[in-house]
Amino acid sequence: MNYESMYRQSIDQKEAFWAEQAALLPWYRQPQQIISNTLNGFYEWFADGITNMCYLCVDRHVAEGRGEQTAIAYDAPAFGTSEQITYRELQNTVAAFAKGLLNLGVRKGDTVIIYMPMIPQALVAMLACARIGAIHSVVFGGFAPHELAVRIDDAKPRVIISASYGVEFGKKIPYKTLVDEAIAEARHKPDYQVYYRREEGFDNLGGPGELDYEALLSCGTTDCVPVASTHPLYILYTSGTTGRPKGIVRDTGGYATALRFSMEYIYNVQQGDVFWAASDIGWVVGHSYIVYAPLLHGCTTVLYEGKPVRTPDAGAFWRVIEQYRVNVLFTAPTSIRAIKKEDHNGSFLREHNIGSLHSLFLAGERCDPDTFGWIQQLLQKPVIDHWWQTESGWPMLSLMTRIDERPGLPGSAGFPVCGYDIRILDEQGAEVEAKQEGNIAIRLPLPPGCLPGLWNNEIRFRKSYLERYPGYYLSGDGGYKNEEGYVFVMGRIDDVINVSGHRLSTGEMEEIVSAHPAVAECAVVGIACALRGQRPLALIVLKDGIAQTEADLQDQLVHTVRETIGPIAVFKTAVVVKRLPKTRSGKILRKTISEIADGKAYTIPSTIDDPEILNEIKEKLLQRRVGIAFDEAI
Ligand code: COA
Ligand code: AMP
Repeated sequence: MNYESMYRQSIDQKEAFWAEQAALLPWYRQPQQIISNTLNGFYEWFADGITNMCYLCVDRHVAEGRGEQTAIAYDAPAFGTSEQITYRELQNTVAAFAKGLLNLGVRKGDTVIIYMPMIPQALVAMLACARIGAIHSVVFGGFAPHELAVRIDDAKPRVIISASYGVEFGKKIPYKTLVDEAIAEARHKPDYQVYYRREEGFDNLGGPGELDYEALLSCGTTDCVPVASTHPLYILYTSGTTGRPKGIVRDTGGYATALRFSMEYIYNVQQGDVFWAASDIGWVVGHSYIVYAPLLHGCTTVLYEGKPVRTPDAGAFWRVIEQYRVNVLFTAPTSIRAIKKEDHNGSFLREHNIGSLHSLFLAGERCDPDTFGWIQQLLQKPVIDHWWQTESGWPMLSLMTRIDERPGLPGSAGFPVCGYDIRILDEQGAEVEAKQEGNIAIRLPLPPGCLPGLWNNEIRFRKSYLERYPGYYLSGDGGYKNEEGYVFVMGRIDDVINVSGHRLSTGEMEEIVSAHPAVAECAVVGIACALRGQRPLALIVLKDGIAQTEADLQDQLVHTVRETIGPIAVFKTAVVVKRLPKTRSGKILRKTISEIADGKAYTIPSTIDDPEILNEIKEKLLQRRVGIAFDEAI
């Protein structure tokens, strides 16, 4: 079947299409209901199906004779570790850890927070939750204790699973201390904190509810608990436009169906292939393509606790591909830019044999055409930029490489993936012509795997995604299609920015900056960054009579954002201005500020209160050498 006919079938005969895909999984009870309970944009996939994600990812491979195959290839350059874990070993450990969780009183439907570095024990914890029907919520290790506390209060976990420490470019990240601070701040208190001890002699456990990870492994084993297809597998928090993150809920059966389908038709991999998503388990890419999809499909997943550069050098990716014979690599454009910056001629690549690699997939942020062209030229393999979100859980735009031979086009994320009826709409909800930019929306129902809602927040779900265009899901991104139907995703239409492929809220940063006693008002916007794609810039108006210097204020704000959100916000620049540019109705012209910093031609909005302010800001940014023109060239 070719892409065109398969795509049409997925839209015109949705239920038959996805019923066929679902039937390719070994359910405990195969679903008869395909889409049901459709009401106001809510609906369920495979509601009467019974399954278990851990069974699909682990036990059934052992049962089908693949127990000795490597499930996880763990590589940690900082420790010189290379470890291969078979499906049988994984099953034994997960079954034991799941039993340990049961002994702590964790039951089907309870929540568990996982805040861990990129180590196999984190995957064991996720799969063990899935095994007993507990709902995990993994929190990215780069978030500060406050962000963890916010998630603890929303998810109300019975248990937090963490580790003694992580390593970032040789720096120790003291997870235990961060968890302690978060629990102290949170209103909800978990019953237990379980720590994986990475070093001999880490003995500062013993506080109330603190347990050793290894101790949970010694109480026997437990089997998979059958759950409904609609049972939440996890909650993953992502940035919205305010300081309160959105808890994206993921179901089980729809997600499994979608992930299996994506491995076959988008990534074109088979059982036994080696799949490497160089991301982090704290992000959706990690959930879907480090953990669940490769294991579900009987592949080997590479778990890499390192970076594209400086662990130890810009040849790290090529070394890992050669060592584990990786077939498909998936990473963020930022990683490629980091490699390009340090090894422009690709000399490290010549030291490695990457013959096993079929293709490179990019996502997490828009891939600029320069980076796309550079890596394609270097690798001489297909490079596919594809677009998705925490909300979707799997790609929405891509080239479906098994059934579509069209080449990737620099700057475009490809075509709608089967199941996604993607439209570009104008402000009134009408579809725009080719090449005209608009808001990217998707006709409901979304295919299996996408969010069924937000954790305990139906109203926010409706408001954020469904109300803007009735009958559609609003993606939050803007873009256009060209005449051939290639879609170009150009960036967010809201106050969300993307720093190194990490999704962050400028609204939250504004809340933090505004709370400083010297600040009268502020605007935080995303500006172009040569390495990280985007980074935040704060423009600040001081209260009258404040004597504090700009440098001193910036230092304090940088410190507070690091302590509140975390270092990953890369908040480094705060510029004091006399006034902020506003419309006559008082709306801050954030887009115009970004355009000035990015050196783009900007039109002066007709509604602007005082156009002279824009010149003042331009002057000030030049004086402070802020903007892409001052970034080190890549
Ligand atoms: N835990 C704790 N801290 C973390 C962290 C983690 N998991 N990840 C990043 N940080 C910290 C970094 O140490 C750095 O701290 P610093 O300001 O004290 O130096 C800060 O957050 C900013 O990190 P980052 O933006 O990643 O910059 P970097 O200079 O450390 O690394 C890259 C640059 C390009 C190598 C890195 O950003 C990278 O690997 N990017 C790919 C990201 C990715 O895979 N995203 C996938 C999303 S799909
Ligand atoms: P997250 O939910 O963290 O995965 O971030 C999702 C957001 O990242 C999307 O809404 C886009 O803004 C951006 N994004 C992800 N992939 C791409 C891509 N291939 N092209 C452009 N933007 C992307």
